[in-house]
Amino acid sequence: MHIPEPVLAPPFNITRASHTVLRVRDLDASRAFYTELCGLVVSDEDSGTLWLRGREENCHHSLVLRAGDRPLCERIGMRVQTADDIRKAQDHFGSIGVATQIVDVPFQGPTLQFRDSLGTPVELTASMPLKERMFMAYDGYRGAAAQRADHWQLQAQDVGRGLGFWHPLGFRTSEYTYSEDAAGVNLWGVWMQRKGNPHDLVYTNGPGPRLHHFAYCLRDAADLVHACDVAGALGYGRRLERGPGRHGISGAMFIYFRDPDGHRIELFNTHYQHIDLEPPVGWSLDDPRRADQWGLPAQEKWFMEATEFEGADPALPALTSELPTLEKFLQLA
Ligand SMILES: [Fe+2]
Repeated sequence: MHIPEPVLAPPFNITRASHTVLRVRDLDASRAFYTELCGLVVSDEDSGTLWLRGREENCHHSLVLRAGDRPLCERIGMRVQTADDIRKAQDHFGSIGVATQIVDVPFQGPTLQFRDSLGTPVELTASMPLKERMFMAYDGYRGAAAQRADHWQLQAQDVGRGLGFWHPLGFRTSEYTYSEDAAGVNLWGVWMQRKGNPHDLVYTNGPGPRLHHFAYCLRDAADLVHACDVAGALGYGRRLERGPGRHGISGAMFIYFRDPDGHRIELFNTHYQHIDLEPPVGWSLDDPRRADQWGLPAQEKWFMEATEFEGADPALPALTSELPTLEKFLQLA
C-alpha cells in the first residue's frame, strides 16, 4: 500500500487537534455526563453553551456543548502555532480553491473556518484565553478525570480523498488499514498526526463525513477502570458501548461511552510517540488484532452509528466489507 512521503515544510503550521463543538438537546444532562463521569472541568457557561476542558489543559476549552433541537457536530477545531499561520492558511486555501471565512468565536483568537475535501467542517485558531491547569488539584477529581483532548476518528466516504487533503498540510500517517479484493488493495483507514503521537485525525471507511468519536487521554488504566465503576454508580453503565480493551493500532487501552445524545467519546490511557521519520504501520482488515488485542469485538452499532456534521449529508462509500461485529462473533462461537 502506498502512503505518500511526509511533507516536512507545509504551507502553515497546524500543531494539534484542539476542540470539538457539539450540539446537544439537554445541556444539564450533558453537563452531568461530561463533568461527573468524564471528569472535565467547566471553563465558562451561558444559558445555551458550556465550555469544558481536560484537567491538565491550559487552553480555555477542548469541548463546546451548545443546546439545540438535534444532536450534531458543528465542527472540529485545530490549533495553529501563531496568528500568522491563520493568514497563511487563508492564502493557501485560496490558492487551491477552498472557501474560507474568518469569524469571531467566543474565547478564541481569530478563527478560520472551512470544509475539507470530504465536507468536514473545520476551524483553525492560534489562541485561547488561558485557564489554570487543574491536574494537581487531586481533591477535585471526578470520574475518569480526563486530562486532555487527543484526537478524532471520522468516517469517510473516500479515505484516500481525505488523506489527499490533509497530507499536503503536514499530516503524517502513523498507521493505516487496508482491504484486498479482486481489484487489488484498498486503503480502508488512515491514522494521521501533527503533534507527535499516533493520531490527531483518523479517517476510516464509512458513510461520511461523520464524527465516529472524539477522544480524551486519561492518566492510566486504573482511571479507565475507575471510570467504568463510576459509570455504574451514576447510572451510565449501559452507556459503556465497548471495552475495556486494547487496540493493536496505537496500542492504547480504551473504553467508549455514548453521551446522552449518542455522541461517542473514547477514554484511553495514552499511546506511543511518533516524532522521528518512521515508516507507517499497515494492518490488514482481516487481522482482528488491529482493533482488539484481546477481548470481544465491537457491537454492530459501534461500526454503524456516528454523529452527523452540520451541513454535510453523509455520502455512502464505494468500498464495502463484511463487518467483524460482536453479533457475528457470538453466532460463530
Ligand atoms: Fe480513537
